[in-house]
Amino acid sequence: MENAFMRWWGCGAFEVILGDVNIAFDPYLFKENLEFAEPIYDYIFISHEHFDHCHPPTLQKLCQGDRFKTLFVNPGCVHPVLPIDKNYGDAAFERDLPITKYLPADKVQILYPKHLDCSQAISRAFPGPSELDLGALKVETIESGENSDPHTPTCGYLVSHKEKDISVLHSGDMHVPYPALKNIQGRVDFLIHMKLGLTEWEGPNHTQNLLDCLDLIQPRYLIPTHYRTDSASDPIPHGTWPPNVTDVLAFIEWIREAAGDRTTVLPFTAGTQYEVEMPAKKVIWKWNWFNTWTVPPWREG
Ligand SMILES: [Fe+2]
Repeated sequence: MENAFMRWWGCGAFEVILGDVNIAFDPYLFKENLEFAEPIYDYIFISHEHFDHCHPPTLQKLCQGDRFKTLFVNPGCVHPVLPIDKNYGDAAFERDLPITKYLPADKVQILYPKHLDCSQAISRAFPGPSELDLGALKVETIESGENSDPHTPTCGYLVSHKEKDISVLHSGDMHVPYPALKNIQGRVDFLIHMKLGLTEWEGPNHTQNLLDCLDLIQPRYLIPTHYRTDSASDPIPHGTWPPNVTDVLAFIEWIREAAGDRTTVLPFTAGTQYEVEMPAKKVIWKWNWFNTWTVPPWREG
């Protein structure tokens, strides 16, 4: 069985290369990454209509060509809550929405969440679809977070490759878990972790949200994303969402320590492609030493 490849592109952007079918979630590219982006994905999934998840310049580059089939979106990407400036503030713009301004409508399909956060005070039912059979892939949706209106839900996507028996859950900007997540318990290999349980140093303690989510879903692996670093290789430019973390190792270790034996934390570096050995579903960690000099500066002159 061929190995799989995964890459976190910074912010919430994540790709999974499975060979016969390639997918991306919330792609958000800049500079040379945007300029040289190739349409290598069959399907792209957008969690919500905020500017850092539904990004027209990136989608215009990727949603084309022979390979590309469908952009799956939450309802707000096509029917944002109006007026946009009042309802979204700095999180979404008239400029970007609806996404069908930029892409042919027959390439865009709205999905609704199957598993709902019922703490939303009112009872809701959505028409669907909320599950898809795409041949090699199965897709099932969950409610995410940061909706502007209870009737305009945001989506997390559980995508499973049938033959490879590998599954990825991209949660979108979900902050607070809810009981219906139990419905996907034990079916998630890789949980792409966005904003759950973020607790800044000496800030309000939200850690329990992360632990509750892990207890409900019980993912095999947790990949922290949706932060940026000062690293020169970080794909998201300075001054762009999301905020930097001051100490990446401390951030990852905080998550690892809190998670305990609930799951295995995978510290992905943004921009780096990781090979996942199949069928073991094990990341092959690769690294090397490299010199930053040509002549050793400590050599006696
Ligand atoms: Fe976000």
